Amino acid sequence: MSSFHNDPRFAGIEPFPTKVWLATPTMHGEEQQWVDEAIRTNWVSTVGANINEIEKQVANYVGCKHAVALSCGTAALHLATKLAGEKLYGQARPNAGTLQGHRVFCSDMTFDASINPVAYEDGEAVFIDTESDTWNMSPEALEKAFELYPDTRLVVVAHLYGTPGKAEQIKAICDSHGALIVEDAAESFGSKYLLNGQWVETGTLGDYNCISFNGNKIITGSAGGMFLTDSEEDANKVRKWSTQSREAAPWYQHEEIGYNYRMSNIIAGIVRGQLPHLDEHIAQKKAIYERYKAGLADLPVKMNPFDAEKSQPNFWLSCLIIDEEAMAPMVRGEQDYLYIHESGKSSPHEILDALAAFNAEGRPIWKPMHMQPIYRTHAFITAEGNGRGCTNAYIAGSGQDVGADIFRRGLCLPSDNKMTPARQDRVIEIIHRCFM
Ligand SMILES: Cc1ncc(COP(=O)(O)O)c(C=O)c1O
Repeated sequence: MSSFHNDPRFAGIEPFPTKVWLATPTMHGEEQQWVDEAIRTNWVSTVGANINEIEKQVANYVGCKHAVALSCGTAALHLATKLAGEKLYGQARPNAGTLQGHRVFCSDMTFDASINPVAYEDGEAVFIDTESDTWNMSPEALEKAFELYPDTRLVVVAHLYGTPGKAEQIKAICDSHGALIVEDAAESFGSKYLLNGQWVETGTLGDYNCISFNGNKIITGSAGGMFLTDSEEDANKVRKWSTQSREAAPWYQHEEIGYNYRMSNIIAGIVRGQLPHLDEHIAQKKAIYERYKAGLADLPVKMNPFDAEKSQPNFWLSCLIIDEEAMAPMVRGEQDYLYIHESGKSSPHEILDALAAFNAEGRPIWKPMHMQPIYRTHAFITAEGNGRGCTNAYIAGSGQDVGADIFRRGLCLPSDNKMTPARQDRVIEIIHRCFM
């Protein structure tokens, strides 16, 4: 039995009989109909009515001309990044990536699938620090990065947890430096952003745009993703690459490297059944965010922030960040952690452990990419300039690292859209007890 059950602070709290999850798929029934139809009509490969239909529906929803259904968001990001590389630097040899020898500015606080495609294409990711208003790429840090590496021509930008970042400023900076944007809207499908006075969808803000239908996303196909664009030529290229790059010959003829990245018509059937429920899921996630915000208002914490004037997030994950003064001591190693309790304070791992003890799933904030062992040798740029080597054994003062700070003080809360208000109230109560 966990020590939380014997801790008087948690007296009277019962564990959840069934787990409260972070974010799980929510099926509605229509999915079954479209999957059954695919099987009944024998269209179970990577062509079929479900694929055609969801490509049309998603393009309509986000307001772009073309959507290409792929096996996952990572595949969409890979082909988007490759396309950008080819546009900028030309076609690569079969054994080399299109970004070889080139830097790419990347969101730092995101899931690694956003930025790994830069490495797949042999480029070098340079990580751009985060701003505290939306927890996304800092325009100031991006501007600094262009001062330091003026030759850079590609930026990969994500919208964390469904909250749109400062796209207007980022687009203006990229335009002024002649740089292209790969937009990772994997977590933000359905989020809206006010661009130059007009509401637009995330997934239309870059030159090459991607969404995901991973099982934990706002809607799901159990897997799947899409590449979104207004360019017919780019859509056709991605479709070709995703189906092994076949040329128009009677036999298998290849002039380019290919991939097996196309979506299956079965997966597309699930997505087709989910699409009518996207707005309903967003409303449920928003209600969860607002219930947390009200329920935690008396604690020394804040919710993950967004710009209410310029964005309408899809509220995919609700998060909190503990005020600095209320942080109890906590340290993290490479794969372990340790904390102590202090009255009136708490820490992300104490809260996560307490939630787990009562059968609820939270998660640490996505660990910033510049802190990941695999990318530790890559450049990291903050609003102040080079973010590496910022302490000095002999001179006082140290650099600011917004992403590391959010990772240290923040956590993702159970955000499943099937969580009832009563269960959420118990989660909120557990968090309160952590601060006793
Ligand atoms: C920000 C972000 N980018 C990319 C991906 C990758 O998408 P997929 O899992 O569909 O490959 C995910 C999640 O899985 C994500 O959260």
